[in-house]
Amino acid sequence: MQIRITLLPGDGIGPEVVQAAVKVMQAAAEKFNIRIQLTEKLIGGASFEKFGTPLTDETLQACFDADAVILGAVGGYQWEALPHHQKPEAALLKLRKELQLFANIRPAKVYSAFAGASSLKADVLSGTDFVVLRELTGGIYFGEPRGYDKTKGWNTMTYQRHEIERIARKAFEIARQRSRKVTSVDKANVLEVSQFWRDVVAEVAEQYPGVELNNMYVDNAAMQIVRDPKQFDVILTSNLFGDILSDIAGMITGSLGMLPSASLGEKYALYEPVHGSAPDIAGQNKANPIATIASVAMMFGYSFQMTKAGQLIEQAIERTLEQGYRTVDIYQEGNKLVGTTEMTAKIVENFEAIFHEEGLGVFTL
Ligand code: IPM
Ligand code: MG
Repeated sequence: MQIRITLLPGDGIGPEVVQAAVKVMQAAAEKFNIRIQLTEKLIGGASFEKFGTPLTDETLQACFDADAVILGAVGGYQWEALPHHQKPEAALLKLRKELQLFANIRPAKVYSAFAGASSLKADVLSGTDFVVLRELTGGIYFGEPRGYDKTKGWNTMTYQRHEIERIARKAFEIARQRSRKVTSVDKANVLEVSQFWRDVVAEVAEQYPGVELNNMYVDNAAMQIVRDPKQFDVILTSNLFGDILSDIAGMITGSLGMLPSASLGEKYALYEPVHGSAPDIAGQNKANPIATIASVAMMFGYSFQMTKAGQLIEQAIERTLEQGYRTVDIYQEGNKLVGTTEMTAKIVENFEAIFHEEGLGVFTL
């Protein structure tokens, strides 16, 4: 099998963590006997500096031509004052829209080694394992009309029936592979668009009798994630609410630097760490590569049906953490402090070791 991956390292620590992902992909390619063709392009501030735009047609085309895209991070202080369409973030939004990546999956899973690092009590947290499924190409992020003038600013939250149906189906399908529970989060007590969302989700639910559906208002959901995160399995929500809830979900795990994400459409897929570009530690070999490496694990599972490769990468991450290796963001006394490249090398080493322990030999797909 041959797969084509487009790499978009982006800004800040993006290049370092994407480099880590490449190392892990290469190790997996060798063991699982596949060929990976890599193409690298600029995005975000890096692209703006060179071409005056955060996303060129060339970069976009390279994404259309790939089987999957891996993105590092975009953004930095120096580009914050630019007009909206030139900001690094605009590249990400355009990419999502152009590739029609309507489903954003952000797992909130607590690694046992980290229960102590969260702002929540370990007993509230332990066993937490849910995903936020965020609608990514609609809602108030893209609704028209939008704008501002001297006297007012305005945005529009709209959802078409088909947009809700497809993300709801995805939620129920994911839930079927997990604990069979979907919590749809909205603001139906105030917003008409949310009432419509709620009605359409209920209709879709009828086609998935094995999955339980609950509805929750977004303010309550924010509270419940902090109060009792174990109650959730799949949180299904719209673009803006998902943006906010996925940050809360990420934070309670105690390890934002460890959270991967997948953005999926019918045809294309993009994988990226949940964390940002962390310009303050860029280029210092300090960044935690785990979120991006875990995104590669998601890629093997979702894009290439290589579930085994994905699982082995996850196991390698867990073993490396159990061995006490930590980058500075997750370091606690008694741990072994390592940089980005050492952490990556340990994960690759463990990946190869687990592969051989399992007696997999050379795996041919
Ligand atoms: C995210 C980010 C983006 C978003 C920004 C950078 C545009 O916060 O991926 O959650 O709001 O979607
Ligand atoms: Mg966000």
